[in-house]
Amino acid sequence: MSALRIEGKKIAEQIRAELTVEVASLKEQNIVPGLAVVLVGEDPASKVYVGSKEKACQSMGIYSEVHRLADNTSEEELLALIDKLNGQASINGLLVQLPLPSHINEKAVINAIAPEKDVDGFHPVSVGNLVIGDDSLLPCTPAGVIELIKRSGTDIAGKHAVVIGRSNIVGKPVAMLLLRENATVTMCHSRTANMEELARSADILVVAIGKAKAIDSRYIKPGAVVIDVGINRLANGKLAGDVDYDDCAATAGYMTPVPGGVGPMTITMLMSNTVKAAKKANG
Ligand code: GUN
Repeated sequence: MSALRIEGKKIAEQIRAELTVEVASLKEQNIVPGLAVVLVGEDPASKVYVGSKEKACQSMGIYSEVHRLADNTSEEELLALIDKLNGQASINGLLVQLPLPSHINEKAVINAIAPEKDVDGFHPVSVGNLVIGDDSLLPCTPAGVIELIKRSGTDIAGKHAVVIGRSNIVGKPVAMLLLRENATVTMCHSRTANMEELARSADILVVAIGKAKAIDSRYIKPGAVVIDVGINRLANGKLAGDVDYDDCAATAGYMTPVPGGVGPMTITMLMSNTVKAAKKANG
């Protein structure tokens, strides 16, 4: 038996098509969702991400503004722009692309974003709401992970979910979302003693550690749902996930590929958050 591929690219396209219909119907009520993206400096990867976010907005009828600021922009100038965008009615979602140049305090910038416009879900208020279980904007990659598990037909409630990796932007929020879905959740990290054994008891395994092919079939329970959040560049220029797909495919029940798994979901969930924020702002 070979694991079924969870086709993130196709699922993302399907959600985008659904959102496009929703945006068109909001327009009939004179509601146009709007996203502002702020990019400081010349980081090449960030430029690509910001370009993809802009294109995604255009393709589904979401208004977008991209503010490209020079590398030497001061923290005060950036905070003043955020303040302006916080108060701008045409903008429902606001994100500052990370990383920021080292002279700018990332925390202060994230804290300055109005929580109701925090489509990244990085603001402490958003993180608090995520933990409490209140309705709020969920961080995009973790929300995409949950969507992929659900759309594979897996019922999360009662399952043992193991999350490998404890980052603030993926591991921790994914664990919280799985808990909200009534999974029994175990978190593993670099200091976990018996990681292989724990992972092998997982019905749902989510891996986000940023280490190419670190997880092989010894970590996989037969039939498990395996979600690979890693995107690593190999020496040969190819992309690889944190999971050794070929080694695990004979054991797992469902797996996300890299590329084409979790990746395409992140921007899709950003669009979904922007639409959600627009609907909330308009009652
Ligand atoms: N840099 C890399 N990923 C992200 C993301 O999801 N949001 C922001 N704001 N910056 C990023």
